[in-house]
Amino acid sequence: MYPSVRPRRLRRNAALRRLVSETEVRPRHLVLPMFVREGATEPVEIPSMPGVLHHTRDSLRAAAVDAVAAGVGGLMLFGVPSERDATGSAAADPDGILNVALRDVAAEVGDDTVLMADTCLDEFTDHGHCGVLDDQGNVDNDRTLRLYGEMALAQAEAGAHVLGPSGMMDGQIGAIRETLDAAGFHDTSLLAYSAKYSSAFYGPFRDAVDSQLSGDRKTYQQDPANGREAAREVGQDIAEGADMVVIKPAMSYTDVVRQTAEISEVPVAAYQVSGEYSMIEAAVERGWLDRRRTVLETLTSLRRSGADIVLTYWAARAARWLREESGGDAA
Ligand code: PBG
Repeated sequence: MYPSVRPRRLRRNAALRRLVSETEVRPRHLVLPMFVREGATEPVEIPSMPGVLHHTRDSLRAAAVDAVAAGVGGLMLFGVPSERDATGSAAADPDGILNVALRDVAAEVGDDTVLMADTCLDEFTDHGHCGVLDDQGNVDNDRTLRLYGEMALAQAEAGAHVLGPSGMMDGQIGAIRETLDAAGFHDTSLLAYSAKYSSAFYGPFRDAVDSQLSGDRKTYQQDPANGREAAREVGQDIAEGADMVVIKPAMSYTDVVRQTAEISEVPVAAYQVSGEYSMIEAAVERGWLDRRRTVLETLTSLRRSGADIVLTYWAARAARWLREESGGDAA
């Protein structure tokens, strides 16, 4: 009579497996991060991120329409300016590339999707840090908060629905919330990067944005060794007014995603970052992994770990695969 417990009974055919499947990934769960480059005259593939483009304003609009048609839940825009300075002034300039692009995309698909903006200075500073530096060359937390506030106002004015403060300054959520509210932007949401780790997996992204950084971000991003600290920042960000929280990177941090899903009162996102994208693409290129199966497995794992939302460079392609599998079902 042994074995009496037979889990294989529920795996014996596709219909049973479908019936007992616990986790779903739908296009609406996915957010596509996109890059727009100032002055670009044609879209250019990012060498370290095959399949991901530096967009022109026009190609960004077209790609946004395409991603929304594929059913993605949202778009997250990053800007690559042609000029940088010590305070990242193009970030708050209404004519700065990110703000111009937000207006473009808002006009195109603003009513049909959730438009998000990266609220951080690293693309805009000539030293590549996420904030401004003091006389000793250290990132000045509180002066940076004021600049984040100005950047946030410019993004909200440009039509972003959700701002993603990703610089890991203390108090950034509270400071930005206060600035937005004082200007009447009560309805602009904040996706707080509560747990953003100082990670090697950002390498390809830094190529993508021509990062000027020398050194590292260890005085503001979290130590990969720490989990408790993530819980503390999640609680703090929610108390400061975060509408959603995000864990970044994703795949090496599924324990943090799970832990956050258990304590968070607000939706939880996981950001599958550039290095996670590029390592799988590199293996696919060599014929070592099957792209579609591998990507969908990673997205399923992140949803199973507790992520309500996944930010991923595969969002539009994955949305199309998912629709194919469900016979064209949109959401
Ligand atoms: C910094 C920022 C980073 C990413 C987006 N914004 C991390 C960093 O460079 O430290 C990483 C995104 C990715 O790797 O996909 N504000």
